[in-house]
Amino acid sequence: MKKQYKRILITAALPYANGKIHLGHLAGAYLPADIYARYQRAKKKEVVFICGSDEHGVPITITAENEKTTPQKIVDRYHELNKQTFEKFGMSFDNYSRTSIPLHHQTAQEFFLKMYNAGILIEKKEKQLYDEKVKMFLPDRYVEGTCPKCGAEDARGDQCEKCGTFLSPNEIINPRSKITGETPVLKETSHWYFPLGKYQKRLQDYIKEKNEEDGWRENVLKYCQTWFNEGLQDRAVTRDLQWGVPVPIAGYENKVLYVWFEAVLGYISSTKEWSYKQNHQKWREFWLSEDTKYVAFIGKDNVVFHCIVFPAMLMAWNDNSEDKYVLPTNVPANEFLNLEGQKFSKSRGWGLYVDEFLEKYPADSLRYALTINLPEMRDSDFYWSDFQARHNNELANTLGNFVNRTLTFVHKNYNGKVPAIGKISELDENFINEMRKAPEIIGNLIEKYRFRDATLEMMNLARLANKYFNDAEPWKTLKQAPDRCSTTIYLCLNAVKALSILFEPVLPFTSKKIRKMLNLKDNYYWDDASELSMKSGEQIGEIEILFNKIENEFISESSQLMSEGPVMTQEVMQKQTVTIEEFKKLDLRVAKVIECEKVQKSNKLLKLQVKIGNEIKQLVAGIAQHYQPEELVGKNIIVVKNLQKTSIMGIDSEGMMLAASDQNGKLVYITTSTDIEDGSIVK
Ligand code: MF3
Ligand code: ZN
Repeated sequence: MKKQYKRILITAALPYANGKIHLGHLAGAYLPADIYARYQRAKKKEVVFICGSDEHGVPITITAENEKTTPQKIVDRYHELNKQTFEKFGMSFDNYSRTSIPLHHQTAQEFFLKMYNAGILIEKKEKQLYDEKVKMFLPDRYVEGTCPKCGAEDARGDQCEKCGTFLSPNEIINPRSKITGETPVLKETSHWYFPLGKYQKRLQDYIKEKNEEDGWRENVLKYCQTWFNEGLQDRAVTRDLQWGVPVPIAGYENKVLYVWFEAVLGYISSTKEWSYKQNHQKWREFWLSEDTKYVAFIGKDNVVFHCIVFPAMLMAWNDNSEDKYVLPTNVPANEFLNLEGQKFSKSRGWGLYVDEFLEKYPADSLRYALTINLPEMRDSDFYWSDFQARHNNELANTLGNFVNRTLTFVHKNYNGKVPAIGKISELDENFINEMRKAPEIIGNLIEKYRFRDATLEMMNLARLANKYFNDAEPWKTLKQAPDRCSTTIYLCLNAVKALSILFEPVLPFTSKKIRKMLNLKDNYYWDDASELSMKSGEQIGEIEILFNKIENEFISESSQLMSEGPVMTQEVMQKQTVTIEEFKKLDLRVAKVIECEKVQKSNKLLKLQVKIGNEIKQLVAGIAQHYQPEELVGKNIIVVKNLQKTSIMGIDSEGMMLAASDQNGKLVYITTSTDIEDGSIVK
């Protein structure tokens, strides 16, 4: 028997406040969490949905150093920015807190002291890697070197990304300081450790039990099993740093709590903040009760902290307190989303930021394209062409079209009033049955964290509705069999309403628009989607177009968002080996720039006319931020002459200009070392 819970606590990983949210973040944790929360609210469950900024940790201090400012300034900037981006994307958090607030510091210190006073923590004096050049103990992430497990050369001090092994910096072979590149030395310091190993058996039992109850993802179980097989080790919970939550005991004045120790507690402090803002103590009902279902949404790189470290910390607290915290019932971690076949990478400049994306496209289109393609079982990819096709074919042509043709019909032929239902034919009956089943089918998939499949089912219903409209031919029956026609349209209106409910978790903005067009309130119950609840005779609202088609030109311009244009895709990835024959397929030539101008309405693109021997070709290159047009005229550049012709913002581009980016990210065009005649072959 499934356990009946009174309420649902939903958390999404707290993003670091030192960078912008990109599509990978959304697909990893945030979008699935939001779909789940919206669905549960529609089921009239008592829900709280919690998130906030993770504002400590070394990457933030490093960002601050690089930008010659303070960590506080950095987190202030990104906290606001990310909070707004999430709002624009339609995230329905009940609270978006931050870990630099006093309430969080108190909460984290209370946890530390509870464990400290109960004698759970162990103090160890030890030698730690120290960078003498910057006079600083190196945080885990700032040690790089060879992985002792798999031999990968770029393992981080805390984890090897290649094989997933959870590491400590002293295990790294040939360590280097990430800050200076120097070999660090060992120097003595003391730290408090959490004895994770002592909890291993209980953690294994806990995961087994929750998995039996709520069906954990295979990949999550596999990651956990790897760590269990290794045997869990003591984990330091303090760090030699200034920025963070101070360790609240004497002799530790210059140290802070390890960011992961306190960040996970941010879920608790954010829930407290939500409660206190409204003068209630509901956070206690959510956190300190066995009747809470707690679902923690994260990306796969956070599994160990949420499935092992955090539950163990809660166990340690619970063993020593009257107040007992609920442990996650499930941790549905997603794999990674890649971009056009390549990993997101801040350092390589390969990414797609949500705020920039949303300046061009509606949030719902992004939500839909991402959900249909979530990396639930394995990594997946975002492709521009897929985004465009999903938007045009599914959102505009299927969902948008059905809503539009139905409502237009009502306005045109029934004075905008819901027509009456008459005798039901077999065709109607079948359609009614499909509508009846949909909420449960979709709901069950969402309950099982299968958001992709749930969304496929949503769109299937829209497809069926279009088919029903076609088969019932109301434009014919309008005159010939008015009773049939009004029945058809009545059912179609109910389908529009059903779609507004069932699509809401994925398309909240669209759902709102549809409900407005139907003159319906936003307060509804999920299961109402299966009822024929539209009232005959009632007036519907004005029609609004839901989705405008996205044109090819627009997509080519947008793909500039993720790189600096055609020239930069060159440097993005470690590429496969090619044979000499493959290389010879490229027609590389010296070309002379004869004309050059800015592309209107684009701040990244230049249009060039180049002379290649006795041919003139037009190129579009994403270098407007690096060169003024006149700087290029008369220069010799290298181009790929036989590149397939493409259109960028409606302008033909018949080749590609080669360039390299320097250490500051400035793109520099490639030329020859002496002045060679244009048209010369480069080989
Ligand atoms: N900031 C971390 C990341 O982006 C996630 C922290 S989740 C928390 O990977 F639970 F620790 F807050
Ligand atoms: Zn490894």
